Amino acid sequence: MRLTAVAEIDATRLASAAGAHGPLQAFADYRRMLDTIDDLDIVHVTTMPGFLVDIVLDCMARDLHVLVEKPPGMSSADTKRIAEAAAGSAGKSMVSFNRRYMPQILAVRRLMQDAGGAVHVSGTYNKPVTTLGTPAMAGITPDPVICDAIHHVDLLRWLAGAGDTAATPTHVHALVQDGPRAGSHRHNAVIRFDTGAIGSFSSHYGVGQREQRAEAHAEDLSAYLDLNTEPQVQLSRAEAAAGGTTRTCTQAPVLDLTAVGGAHFDEVRHFTDCILEDRQPWSGLQDAVITMRLAEAIRGGHQGLLP
Ligand SMILES: NC(=O)c1ccc[n+]([C@@H]2O[C@H](COP(=O)([O-])OP(=O)(O)OC[C@H]3O[C@@H](n4cnc5c(N)ncnc54)[C@H](O)[C@@H]3O)[C@@H](O)[C@H]2O)c1
Repeated sequence: MRLTAVAEIDATRLASAAGAHGPLQAFADYRRMLDTIDDLDIVHVTTMPGFLVDIVLDCMARDLHVLVEKPPGMSSADTKRIAEAAAGSAGKSMVSFNRRYMPQILAVRRLMQDAGGAVHVSGTYNKPVTTLGTPAMAGITPDPVICDAIHHVDLLRWLAGAGDTAATPTHVHALVQDGPRAGSHRHNAVIRFDTGAIGSFSSHYGVGQREQRAEAHAEDLSAYLDLNTEPQVQLSRAEAAAGGTTRTCTQAPVLDLTAVGGAHFDEVRHFTDCILEDRQPWSGLQDAVITMRLAEAIRGGHQGLLP
């Protein structure tokens, strides 16, 4: 794979990208890039969500393969719109929910499925106050849980899922308690999934530090994931013990990264494989509509059955 061209409306950033990744063709207007270069295969659209939809639609209209940065638009309505365009395009498309493609997460997920599927998943996604959710980002990004903590909303669906499919939420009970400062959005939610797994989600902006953690549990199996930097996974398994009880094995299960594509597998590798092998990506746009709606339900303090 080769980076052929970059489009960026900010002249300083354009020059910097061309310097860092060149030689390549640099464009101030992405449409001119699409019109000029006739052998583009894949376009990565990585603008803020408020500017993303038209660019993605232009690429799809040209039947290009499109890797769409998260969140795929400002709302689930935006995502649905580009999902409909994707259905009419000869190009493939995928959302960069990159947590799904981390080798450690894929290996944990495989262990869960071998143990009969996750029964409980949880995710924590905390940060100090950012510009997200403040007036400075109005019209450019949606609320932080939809723009950013969506990584862990999607991760819960993925860990609770089966095969190549993320679980679908059926019920959400969310409590929202924002702080007094702009951007200090706070959520706790319990989610029921169609696979039988229950999820708990916690995301707080305007707290002391960035913290990204997750858990997944199946019968006699637990995984605790520290996702702050390179994923660290603590695994334990229980085994039968005397008197009909169980005890934690002294030898923890081992993550098999080779079986899930190797230590360097990621979303770009998956998308490329899907194009070369004519397969549907795991995080296609139709599927992303479900994650966007779940993030919106959490932000909206939804209680009960999802429509
Ligand atoms: N997957 C991840 O882990 C991850 C990490 C960081 C950011 N993101 C996502 O990536 C997106 C961008 O985030 P960022 O921090 O890089 O934002 P950014 O604002 O720093 O960069 C976006 C760039 O897009 C350019 N741009 C806007 N409109 C354009 C157009 N019409 N043509 C060409 N260029 C245009 C802007 O000039 C800007 O330089 C966000 O949606 C964010 O949520 C994802």
